[in-house]
Amino acid sequence: MNGKVQVSGAKNAVLPILAACLLTSDKVVLEEAPDLLDVQVMIQVLESLGGKVKRNGKKLQVTVKEIESIETPYDLITKMRASVVIMGPMLARKGRVRISQPGGCAIGSRPINWHLKGLEYLGAQVRMDHGFLDIVAPRLTGARIYLDFPSVGATENIMMAAACAQGTTVIENAAQEPEIVDLANFINEMGGKIRGAGTNIINIEGVKEFHGTTHTVIPDRIEAGTFVLMAAACGGEVLVRNVITAHLKPLLAKLDEAGVIYKEEDEGIRVMGKGCYNAVDIKTQVHPGFPTDLQAPILAMLTLAKGTAVVTETVFENRFMHVDELKRMGADIKIEGRSAIVQGVESLHAATVAATDLRAGAALVLAALTANGTSEIREIHHIERGYENLDLKLRGLGAEIYKVD
Ligand code: EPZ
Repeated sequence: MNGKVQVSGAKNAVLPILAACLLTSDKVVLEEAPDLLDVQVMIQVLESLGGKVKRNGKKLQVTVKEIESIETPYDLITKMRASVVIMGPMLARKGRVRISQPGGCAIGSRPINWHLKGLEYLGAQVRMDHGFLDIVAPRLTGARIYLDFPSVGATENIMMAAACAQGTTVIENAAQEPEIVDLANFINEMGGKIRGAGTNIINIEGVKEFHGTTHTVIPDRIEAGTFVLMAAACGGEVLVRNVITAHLKPLLAKLDEAGVIYKEEDEGIRVMGKGCYNAVDIKTQVHPGFPTDLQAPILAMLTLAKGTAVVTETVFENRFMHVDELKRMGADIKIEGRSAIVQGVESLHAATVAATDLRAGAALVLAALTANGTSEIREIHHIERGYENLDLKLRGLGAEIYKVD
């Protein structure tokens, strides 16, 4: 691989930020909003509630003048469970929301018990009604909430509901992901009073109302990390642009350990991959640990490392779906409990494989780019949920990758 690739705005920042647009009746402009399947679904969710959304390239204009419905269509919630983050802002704006109990997905059952517990602490009443969650909150009052686990979605929902609750809310053991910081910055730009986002204690002082703003979404650290790993695995010189390197510290530390050469430059990260590196052990953790969303891509890269790597997934209960597919390409991997034991091999061979979830799909693309021969990857809609124009961007680096009907 050789050349430059531009990272898009962060999917996992723009999704909760779109939900936060429900907090105001003013116009909001979002710059660097990636055009992804998941973003299209969130836009449909906002429109089903009465929002008006216009896209102009990377810019989204969002206005929710009136909330015209308190219920989102069943198929939209089931299509993308991340839409559960509309609960907080809907309770803040309207005091009521009805959403279908979100299903699980390929990587796990994905319950929302901590979301609901936090909202109840703020004064919401949750009722199950034939598979629907019917939540009312005549008044939201600030509270001290301790999260059993630093759940990203639960932190976001509670933060948005607390943003206009009476009094102050403290979230302890809060998630610290950079996307939480971007959401808090966005709410503060609309007039919110949130302090401590990015640490495990977040203070939210409720305010009366919010005004419009223009916000630039942070770059997608997971997309950036995926390109860095592809360059390391394939070899060649690749400049990954539009990166906040501080967000990639956990990955960069692992690349140092593996002996992958890279340089942090003003424009981004320049990888000088030789296509050979040592095996390193990975254990996914909540931020600032190694991100679970890069576990599949780095595992794919480790199938070609010198030595044996142990990859342990601690965040999701079923996030090794890519392993069977990689083994069909000649990888030597054994699953033992929550760990995958990866024995490096000389090379992978092409095969027809299927993406099972977003990051597993990215891992298969990485493997196919290094494999001898031409692979076919099925179910690529999973990949298009979170990677904007992946084929185009990779062709720009010299990869031979084409979408076919
Ligand atoms: C967000 O999901 C991301 N999605 C995920 O990215 C990411 O993998 C995850 O955070 C962890 O970083 C978006 O931001 C849209 P969690 P989220 O709540 O909020 C369990 C991708 O590939 N849990 O931190 O759902 C849950 O089942 C996606 O871009 C409960 O048990 O993550 C999981 O095992 C995949 N009860 C763990 O906690 C709850 O109430 C972490 O979930 C909430 C979560």
